[in-house]
Amino acid sequence: MSDQAERFRQLALAADSRRTIIKQHRIPRVITVTSGKGGVGKTNLVVNLAIALSRLGKRVAIMDADLGLANVDIMLGLLPLHNLYDVVQGTKSLEDIIVSGPDGLKIIPGGSGLTELANLSSLQRERLVDNLIGLENMADILLIDTGAGLSRAVLSFVSAADELIVITTPEPTAITDAYGLIKVVAKHKIHQQVKLVVNQVSGHREAVNLAERFAEVSQKFLQLDVRFLGEICSDQQVVSAVKQQQPFLTLFPRTRATQDVQNIAGKLLEIAPEKSRGISGFLSRLTKLLEN
Ligand SMILES: Nc1ncnc2c1ncn2[C@@H]1O[C@H](COP(=O)(O)OP(=O)(O)O)[C@@H](O)[C@H]1O
Ligand SMILES: [Mg+2]
Repeated sequence: MSDQAERFRQLALAADSRRTIIKQHRIPRVITVTSGKGGVGKTNLVVNLAIALSRLGKRVAIMDADLGLANVDIMLGLLPLHNLYDVVQGTKSLEDIIVSGPDGLKIIPGGSGLTELANLSSLQRERLVDNLIGLENMADILLIDTGAGLSRAVLSFVSAADELIVITTPEPTAITDAYGLIKVVAKHKIHQQVKLVVNQVSGHREAVNLAERFAEVSQKFLQLDVRFLGEICSDQQVVSAVKQQQPFLTLFPRTRATQDVQNIAGKLLEIAPEKSRGISGFLSRLTKLLEN
């Protein structure tokens, strides 16, 4: 083969591999994690699930969107200096505010930038959207940690995301509040499917029984498909990890809660996304919802 033919062959090969990379690049899954009642384990699930997913080869970003008790950073022992407020103000870019967590996680501190979302000028909103669209190529999965309950902000995140994970404990008040939440989801036809995690259970049987009853009632009265993602056992190591400001998945690789979250991660990747409109779709819906 002449030198020139060889060069052409190599160029063609390079172009082919570029095309494969582009083809492999999927639209990121945008998943909101919420609960009816507070303190049921949202942040612990988000942080540890993110690590488990990242160990399964996914690039994961977390948006801390709990306006009241933002604490993804505390749970990871991180001290973010800036947050989305700085992006909104135009003094920082998304890259400047992203904090790196364990296992390559990217954490986007929401902070007062999110509290202010409803009051942004159109220029500020544009800035935010322009910046966050950069995430489209940075992450395969965006997990959003929200506050609990039915506030407008929480519901906006729930509606804007493509998928919803609801977490509850077996406590009757937590279950009632979780049901109240998905009732709103069903009424406004926000999602056709909700994924359920049951936290702080004594064992698998308890979780399955609860999830089956919950799914049955939701199907019958709300025509909503509730998929059981899995349970997390009540585990003292979770409490211990929180105190040490480290994820239990990293600190206690063999504890029950770690195995449980790894199962949940596997299950989540098995379930095809309900919709997938990517980060840009998520943002345009979010800003619209917060606007009016
Ligand atoms: N599986 C578990 N086993 C034991 N304690 C847990 C478990 N999950 C959560 N907790 C306790 O509940 C507290 C609240 O969890 P957190 O994830 O901050 O809830 P939320 O984000 O919903 O407010 C944790 O600090 C921990 O003490
Ligand atoms: Mg929390």
